[in-house]
Amino acid sequence: SNALRPRVVFSGIQPTGVPHLGNYVGALRQWVQLQQQPDTRLIYSIVDLHAITTPQAPEKLKRLKRETLAAILAIGIDPDRSILFHQSSVPAHSELMWILACTASVGYLSRMTQWKQKLNLSPTSRLEDRPVGSRLKLGLLSYPVLQAADVLVHRATHVPVGHDQQQHLEFARECATNFNHAYGPHLVHPETITPPVHRIMSLTDPTSKMSKSHKNDRSRILITDTPDEIRAKVASALTDSLPGISYDLATRPGVSNLLDILSIFDAQQRSPAQLAQAHAETHPRQFKAMVSDAIIQGLHGIRSRYVELLDTESAYLDHVEADGAQKARQSAEETMQLVRMAVGL
Ligand code: ADP
Ligand code: NA
Repeated sequence: SNALRPRVVFSGIQPTGVPHLGNYVGALRQWVQLQQQPDTRLIYSIVDLHAITTPQAPEKLKRLKRETLAAILAIGIDPDRSILFHQSSVPAHSELMWILACTASVGYLSRMTQWKQKLNLSPTSRLEDRPVGSRLKLGLLSYPVLQAADVLVHRATHVPVGHDQQQHLEFARECATNFNHAYGPHLVHPETITPPVHRIMSLTDPTSKMSKSHKNDRSRILITDTPDEIRAKVASALTDSLPGISYDLATRPGVSNLLDILSIFDAQQRSPAQLAQAHAETHPRQFKAMVSDAIIQGLHGIRSRYVELLDTESAYLDHVEADGAQKARQSAEETMQLVRMAVGL
């Protein structure tokens, strides 16, 4: 059972370039913190095969993969502690995906929500609808099978996922169940680890989450923004005209989002509500300056390391890519030997 096995954590991020504060707080910071856990194998992937389920310009994708790698290293992922690799450098992910696909239900996939969101379709759209069938590509529909393979090929016991990904992990467990039912108990059922904090909202529209797909650059803070950029973005963040500072996500989403951010980086680890109390009388401009200072402090060193890696440490990045690929291939191959034997391949 999982209790007797060493913990194996798998997590992936798409190569979309420099992560924003939401990605950092909601996912990447936890990757770094997990490095403190004893007896835990950490496997982190830049999932480039997932990226191509939507159109990508090849040269740009190449650059974004490299920038994502540099950003992950800059936040403190240690490639001697964590296996860090580009998904496409380990063909076993695709091989296991095919094998899982042979016992995966299209009905289940069609009921999932992400392909509909990515095509801007209504949640009630169905695979059988005529315009849907021609627009929807097989890769996008079967994306969750590749995600299942990512996790299962490394025998991950724990997967840190945001709330939006719970459905996909449930599907990964279903894939493991289907495989094990057909071929014997070779695949491990992964559990989720949910990030401790809630979502960071857009600075310009605090009722929607901070996201790279938001058009307005001022809506998000990148983890490599300069202190001046951070100050300018926080200063222009949408708040309200109510007096003072108070925490109420429903009626004061802008101020509450800033309190959430302040709380995340607070040295005294105060809750947003406690911080609201402490700053009830603080002028909004001064409050925003404090939030900026906290973010600048919290992200300190990331930008300079990122720039240094990309500008002067190209050979080191090559080495990390090659070494990570080799370690990840070895991890995946252990599972694939069992799988191929079980299936009769
Ligand atoms: P985006 O919404 O910018 O496209 P992704 O969907 O690629 O971000 O998410 C990558 C990771 O970052 C996921 O684990 C997701 O849960 C987390 N994440 C993304 N946006 C936020 C946010 N605004 N607040 C907290 N976590 C977030
Ligand atoms: Na997203």
